Amino acid sequence: MTEPLLAHGQLAGLDEIAHTGVDSTRGGYSRHVFTPAEFELREWFVERAVRLGLDVETDRNGNMWAWWGQPGPDAVVTGSHLDSVPGGGAFDGPLGVVSALDAVARLQATGFLPTRPVAVVVFAEEEGSRFGVACLGSRLLSGAITADAARVLTDADGVSFAEAASAAGLDPNQLGRDHESLKRIGLFIELHVEQGVGLIHHDSPVAVASSILAHGRWRLRVTGQGNHAGATGMRERRDPVVAAARAVLAVEDAALASDDGRATVGRLRIVPGGTNVIASSVDAWLDARAATDVATRALVADISDRITEATASSGCSVELIEESWSGVVEFDAELAARLSGTLGGVPLLPTGAGHDAGVLSGTVPTAMVFVRNPTGVSHSPEEFASADDCIAGVEALEALLRSVL
Ligand code: HGY
Ligand code: MN
Ligand code: MN
Repeated sequence: MTEPLLAHGQLAGLDEIAHTGVDSTRGGYSRHVFTPAEFELREWFVERAVRLGLDVETDRNGNMWAWWGQPGPDAVVTGSHLDSVPGGGAFDGPLGVVSALDAVARLQATGFLPTRPVAVVVFAEEEGSRFGVACLGSRLLSGAITADAARVLTDADGVSFAEAASAAGLDPNQLGRDHESLKRIGLFIELHVEQGVGLIHHDSPVAVASSILAHGRWRLRVTGQGNHAGATGMRERRDPVVAAARAVLAVEDAALASDDGRATVGRLRIVPGGTNVIASSVDAWLDARAATDVATRALVADISDRITEATASSGCSVELIEESWSGVVEFDAELAARLSGTLGGVPLLPTGAGHDAGVLSGTVPTAMVFVRNPTGVSHSPEEFASADDCIAGVEALEALLRSVL
């Protein structure tokens, strides 16, 4: 018995989780790793997978694997993530997980018998919204981050990843590269809502990914002199909030001066954050991206020079600390072309968004399928994909699985 594909005008799986982790501030969803909302999504995933007769296991790093058949070498793995950015859209991550479950359900409903093991995977902390490093689950799996580095990551409340992982039932001492799980993956195909406008310009609901921008995250720590808002004359101040504001404008100037580089400051933390207090310091987090590793490094170097000057003009200093780095990803061109051909010649599109498939591309064969997002908007409640295009995505994923199984 196969599940109805649609409910209330969208994929039934998305409808089932539509009320989980709604963000009361901005709308959209805040579903951060190892929090009640994400635990609820994990339970939903297990329940959905078990209904399909899949055997679910959680690996040492908190990634979930739902196996159709015995876990084994040369498996075809598909899936994505369930966590979100703060106030994120409904599709970024969950569309890939729901589509993977639906594609497996459709294969089963036609009596298809795979010749290779199949798994639906949910990677942990893909957004890095709680612990600051994107794709933390797939980085740990592949060894792209060491267990020691991951254990000491902390969230805004100072809770370490080790503590949160332990509270989630994992053994922090077991975190790290998982050779057994890696060895099983023969091919990973991730379906994802498009984050951008590429498909809007093509008459196709789906595309295959060609590449991912190089990107990284840096913390800018601006230090000034805390003081009294009323007792301190304007020319005696070393106000790190003013300095940080100048630095944010300098970041924009550097990106505008680059060759289509992108630089964003989306998160600030003012210490101490009192209305009548000149702050002591400001943390600002920089997300910088460009078409090549060299261009991204050059953009960040230019940003560093500019913010040093900008903050000095307010009598403050700034420190730039790298928190994560992902080099440019060129997906396997032969595989991408083959998958595109299987789908009738759908477009091959680059993306500015990072993904677990990108992190794993250096370790196992990976590919991505994008589903049209008519708004082009993502990491925002306005992110959208029509039911028709979502169904086209499920059908495309089912066709790709048939072609490799
Ligand atoms: O930040 C990214 O590019 C991805 O959405 N995690
Ligand atoms: Mn995202
Ligand atoms: Mn995503």
